[in-house]
Amino acid sequence: MDTARIEEVVGDFVHLKKRGTSLIGNCPFHGEKTPSFHVSVTKGIYKCFGCGKGGDSVRFIMDHEKYSYPEALKFLANKYNIEVEETELSPQAAEAQSAKESLYIVSQYAAAFFVKQLWETDEGKGIGLSYFKERGFREDILKKFEVGYSPDVWDAMTQSAINAGHNIEFLEATGLSIKNEKGKIYDRFRGRVMFPIHNFTGRIIGFGGRTLKTDKNVPKYVNSPESEIYHKSNVLYGLFHAKKAIRESDNCYLAEGYADVLSVHQAGIENVVASSGTSLTVEQIKLIGRFTQNVTILFDGDAAGIKASLRGLDMILEEGLNVKIVSFPDGHDPDSYMHHVGAGAFKTYLEQNRKDFILYKANVLLKDAGDDPIKRAGIIRDIVESIAKIPDQIKASVFIRECSSLLEIEERILLTELNKMRSAKSKKTFESNQRASQTNNYAHSSNAPEPLGPPDNLWDDAAGPGETQVQSLAEDHQEREVVRLLLAYGHEFVNWDNIDDMYIGSFIMQNLADVDFENALCKRIVDYYKSEIDNGRLPTANHFIKNEDRDIADLAITLSTSEYALSENWLNKHQIYVKDESMHLKATILGGIFHLKKHKVDKILSNLLKEIKDEKDMDNQMILMQRYGVIKGVEREISKFLGSVIVK
Ligand code: UTP
Ligand code: MN
Repeated sequence: MDTARIEEVVGDFVHLKKRGTSLIGNCPFHGEKTPSFHVSVTKGIYKCFGCGKGGDSVRFIMDHEKYSYPEALKFLANKYNIEVEETELSPQAAEAQSAKESLYIVSQYAAAFFVKQLWETDEGKGIGLSYFKERGFREDILKKFEVGYSPDVWDAMTQSAINAGHNIEFLEATGLSIKNEKGKIYDRFRGRVMFPIHNFTGRIIGFGGRTLKTDKNVPKYVNSPESEIYHKSNVLYGLFHAKKAIRESDNCYLAEGYADVLSVHQAGIENVVASSGTSLTVEQIKLIGRFTQNVTILFDGDAAGIKASLRGLDMILEEGLNVKIVSFPDGHDPDSYMHHVGAGAFKTYLEQNRKDFILYKANVLLKDAGDDPIKRAGIIRDIVESIAKIPDQIKASVFIRECSSLLEIEERILLTELNKMRSAKSKKTFESNQRASQTNNYAHSSNAPEPLGPPDNLWDDAAGPGETQVQSLAEDHQEREVVRLLLAYGHEFVNWDNIDDMYIGSFIMQNLADVDFENALCKRIVDYYKSEIDNGRLPTANHFIKNEDRDIADLAITLSTSEYALSENWLNKHQIYVKDESMHLKATILGGIFHLKKHKVDKILSNLLKEIKDEKDMDNQMILMQRYGVIKGVEREISKFLGSVIVK
């Protein structure tokens, strides 16, 4: 962590300029022309004041490259030539790990073998390369995707691999070699052009081999089987080569076949992937979702096929992604159309023929239904069902409006239908939540689910049933302020009121021992802080800033990178404020503690007041009123204290 200096790691991707105490640049996570992306060299963190992203070196690599935590660590280790020892592995795990590594290695070997065959052998050039050339593929594209050729020989690849010292066991495990009943070993891929499949970090994990024969009895494609390294449902063909362009264009084109990906690339459009034969899976959609929220499906021509696949696309809506559709004329697929009209016209075509999925679907189905009223009613339900899958309500209501004019149906009717579907869905979620919930809240445990409120509320996951008190903004603010003070000043000493051998962190915790935090994240930070102090340790801000838990880290970063701290502009404008805070630490710290206390006490008072109003028994009411008096006294003391000691 010390070696991976934030300015160097970020500097590889963002042009940074010095400004005041920090470095700034254009944020790589959202489009902007004036820089709001700050890097603090001393704190080792970055923070964008435009889109809010922030973190340390590891987080930056995770966010930018879409790596997992261990992937990001390995990436950085590689950058700084640090050897990664996997000491945690058990012997079995280590063996599995190295077996897995061996599968990557034989796959890489096979890919190189096929490439060599394509470019350097008579058979490869005469059959494979000339096939690609005939179809109009450029050499640079073939090389970029490492396509190859498998000779029409029983065991050419297997023999070559064994001669090169590779273990037959691993060749079999990848499916590249097959052993028949008689124990004879042969190649899975023979006499085919080969498309290697990369995972998104660029390693080869499998192959698709296309036959060049026209014989109908020969399968067009032979594919690698599932293996330790190749899980089809998690892989998108072309993602490794597309990911940069997907992020930059904030859109992912989704095609069907290997050939389509190559052709669209050749047209200069690099943000394209294919699901490769299998129907699209949720995992594949989530994979795209790591890079962009926008998917544009490139549909193969024929109408029947399109109609059949429309339903499958609701799944993408459900993941919250925006779906657009491009279809091609005269039974063309993206590949054939690109070669038919040429790169330039193809590009324009994609840009001008993008239709929104829902409207596209409505159009296709309407055309199909003609004037048949029953069919039309079915369509309406079908479309509204798609719209109901969209998690974002505002988006959904826009679609309702558009479909209302397209289907010539009153918006109100569509809305009713939509709400019906949503209530059904919410009811299901509600019931399963009920089952999952362990707390026995009397309001809900007694009988059947409560009558469902207006759909708007039901859609709001945060306000689940049973939540009575919503935390006030002011209270939330006060809690965050206390956490901010803990992080910023916890390690300094209290130097007031004759207290001189106490850390501010301990002082704050002592003073708030009786306060419950409502904000779950603040509570977790405070609880951890407290338990560490109880064990004689003082947590550092870094512990939270670099926390494995992303939510904790995010909050810690936000709280320790205020605009005051990072930007020179703000510093100049607010110099007095900044100086004030650290110079008058006593006022700052006590202010934080007692403002929060006052909020808590005010809350108790207003609850008591309610209780008093509701209480019918006079004696009980008296008791409550006495209690109110005592607490009101506390509140007055706190207010007086705040007024006299704290200069606001
Ligand atoms: P296509 O038949 O559209 O193939 O199938 P293609 O890639 O466009 O190939 P060309 O243009 O005819 O050369 C789409 C995808 O379906 C899978 C492959 O991944 C293919 O790219 N597929 C197809 C198979 O796995 N097996 C098959 O027999 C056919
Ligand atoms: Mn094709």
